[in-house]
Formats: sequence, C-alpha cells, structure tokens
Amino acid sequence: MTVAVITIDGPSASGKGTVASLVAARLGFHYLDSGSLYRLVALHAERTGLALDDEDALARAARHLPVEFADERVLLAGEDASAAIRSEAIGIGASRVGACPAVRAALLERQRDFRRAPGLVTDGRDMGSVVFPDATLKVFLTASADERANRRYKQLIGKGESANLLQIKQDIIARDERDAHRAVAPLRQEPDALLLDTTSIGIDRTVECILGWFSERQVSGS
Ligand code: DC
Repeated sequence: MTVAVITIDGPSASGKGTVASLVAARLGFHYLDSGSLYRLVALHAERTGLALDDEDALARAARHLPVEFADERVLLAGEDASAAIRSEAIGIGASRVGACPAVRAALLERQRDFRRAPGLVTDGRDMGSVVFPDATLKVFLTASADERANRRYKQLIGKGESANLLQIKQDIIARDERDAHRAVAPLRQEPDALLLDTTSIGIDRTVECILGWFSERQVSGS
C-alpha cells in the first residue's frame, strides 16, 4: 500500500508551515518542511563563504549536508540551526539557492525519503508538482501579499526583532517573483491542487478544511 502524502505548496509567508505541522499533528503523520533544506544550504553557503551562483558546490553541499530533524529542531552537523535558518536574509538566500537546478536535483531523493508510514504532510513550492506528484491530496495555500506581509511583520515583532512592514512586503513580492519565474520547478498551482485562500480565514478553519478534504479523499479512494 502506498503511504499517504498531503502536499501544501504556496508563496512565502502564506502560513504553510504552521498549517502543515498542525495537520500532521492531528493525523499523527510525519512532517517535512522542505524550505528548511533550501535554507540550510543557504546557511551553509553563508558560513563557508560559498557563492550563491556556484552551482556545483551548492549541489554538493545539498547532497551531503548532515541534516537532522529532531522534535521541533533542525540540526546542521549536530548544531541546532532552527533559529539561524529563519532570518529574512537566509530566506532570500534560500530562494536564490532554490533557483539552481542541480540543487533541486540533489534534494529530490532526500525529500522523498521522508515518505514513511503512517503518512507525510509536507510544505514547499514544488511538493505536489515535482517531489510527490502522486500525493493523496494537493493543496495550494495562498493569501494576499498585504496579508502575508502583515503576518510576517507581527511574527518578527512578536519575537522582539525590528521590522519594517514596507520592506517586508517588497521582499515577499520579490521572492514570489523569483520562485514563480525560475526555469525549474516554479511555484504555481497545479491543475490537481485545491486552492485555499487564507486572506480572511484563520489557522483553525484552514486546518479543518484540509482535514475535511483529506478524509473525503480517503473515503473516495478506499
Ligand atoms: O518555505 P520557505 O519560506 O522556508 O522557503 C524558503 C525558500 O526556499 C523559498 O523562497 C524558495 C525555496 N524553496 C524552494 O525552492 N522549493 C521548496 N520546495 C521549498 C522552498
């Protein structure tokens, strides 16, 4: 029997990570935050002085980086990198790293290895289109750029960091542009993905909606 997968793709700051991990917890499924892999490659590049256009070196790093997911933490070579990979600068670096075809190829099998019983919930940009094209349920989660910028702003302020709303919105739009227009695995809604616009709905309703869709799929697939 194939292991069930729910893919949640969408633009940055659409709430994919929060929603995907809550859906995974409700179902008792594994969770893969694919963006963290791109962020780890960007962090490694920054720390070791790798240029973000050195595709071969980035791909080698992507293939061999010693990454571990433990509870809520992401470990890079045994060190907790959870906070370091969340900075805006590393997010922008990850978007550039993600535009390299060789990096995407290097991460493909690593991501597929997360598909284990009883099931997997994963979020990213190409989870439904490239990594798990046979997913049980594909969701495209989005919200307006204003709303996403507001959410990111509140998140940063909540963490005690300084933030500039206009700058955040500009970064979000620039990241959307790069993620949607790159040559390989661009961000887009697949024809078989269900669209969920969360501009005016909260996290709880979003999670319930996805769980409802998933149970419909299971009934119709059994
Ligand atoms: O989801 P996130 O914000 O953590 O992702 C950071 C960047 O990584 C995103 O701007 C593009 C890249 N990424 C990608 O290219 N493909 C994925 N599946 C996930 C992330």
